[in-house]
Amino acid sequence: MMYDTLLSRKVKEIKPSGIRKFFDLASQMEGVISLGVGEPDFHTPWLICESAIYSIENGQTHYTANQGLFELRKQICAYMERRFHLTYDPQKNVIVTVGGSEAIDISLRSIVDPGDEVILLQPGYVAYTPCVELAGATPKFIELTEENQFKLTPELLEAAISDKTKAILINFPSNPTGGVMTKEDYAKIVPIIKKHQLIVISDEIYAELSYSEEHCSLANFDEIKDQVIIISGFSKAFAMTGWRLGFTLANETFTSAMNKIHQYIIMSAPTAAQYGAIEALRHGEKEVQKMKESYEQRRNFVVNGCNRIGLKTHLPQGAFYIFPSIQNTGMTSEQFCEELLKEQKVACVPGTAFGEAGEGFIRISYAYSIEHLKEAIARIDIFLKNRKF
Ligand SMILES: Cc1ncc(COP(=O)(O)O)c(C=O)c1O
Repeated sequence: MMYDTLLSRKVKEIKPSGIRKFFDLASQMEGVISLGVGEPDFHTPWLICESAIYSIENGQTHYTANQGLFELRKQICAYMERRFHLTYDPQKNVIVTVGGSEAIDISLRSIVDPGDEVILLQPGYVAYTPCVELAGATPKFIELTEENQFKLTPELLEAAISDKTKAILINFPSNPTGGVMTKEDYAKIVPIIKKHQLIVISDEIYAELSYSEEHCSLANFDEIKDQVIIISGFSKAFAMTGWRLGFTLANETFTSAMNKIHQYIIMSAPTAAQYGAIEALRHGEKEVQKMKESYEQRRNFVVNGCNRIGLKTHLPQGAFYIFPSIQNTGMTSEQFCEELLKEQKVACVPGTAFGEAGEGFIRISYAYSIEHLKEAIARIDIFLKNRKF
């Protein structure tokens, strides 16, 4: 039987992730040093683990409310208020999700119809395009440039809006560029979002990892706050990728629409993880701060190292990625990464895995120890010298 012919057209049309393809190749080789993984190298702080273990010992092994434990939603609201000056109500505005990943999916699916356009920024996180397509909408891309420090400008936004535009999905601090938007940057696009009544899905999963300035959200602008759906979670800042816990913050209408999907496809996010997250928000901020300081040191180390060996790299202001230009090598991003992997056994991600606008760049994650980063830079140095770049 040709099972392929039985698949949904939408699913068949989805391209496999450019990151996966690369790491499948790397996993078959020995002695590979990876700069590819987008997750903290830190283990989850022990106080969080302990609290989750205790919840299981205590028999808290059942479903929770669809939207998540009320205490966790209360803690999320208190945290967002003290950390980012954002006010939300735990009953009306919060859903605890299975990672930021589920939050991206339910936010899109609750607002788009076939024919709607959703603006995406490129280079951008790999899941956005497939999620928009699976939701039945059409992605419309804005290419961000290094000259603009990968920021969204009012000119770019205006030019991308059509009468079909329903929403824009943004992600600052950004994976893969490390770019951020300051309050002043956002102030320039707020009137456009208001005028066109755009819904903003704002993926702020790296909010805590903002190095030069305090993180600002579009939801900090009162005039458009209700148009914004914030996506965030515990994976990155709290080093909890495997716990699969995130959340959405949005107006009451959007929240109840998203909850309709969430209750049928998920029921409720993992219970032990929710207990761990309560502890994370109550007592985990010091740990987040320590990890952030370490990331900042590694960022400085890796940016200096790359520039020293001739891999031109701007200093990104957030997340844990750098996005060096490889344009002076004359190679495509894929070629560069493939040859680097084969020759020096260093795995990076081609910029094109994040959209065509990523051509001429590679993504390096610096969520690794300084020793690991040092070894990787030494190998890349040899790779470049062998080619006399
Ligand atoms: C920008 C961005 N959003 C969302 C996610 C998904 O995170 P989670 O583990 O919370 O599902 C990631 C993970 O890499 C990411 O980089």
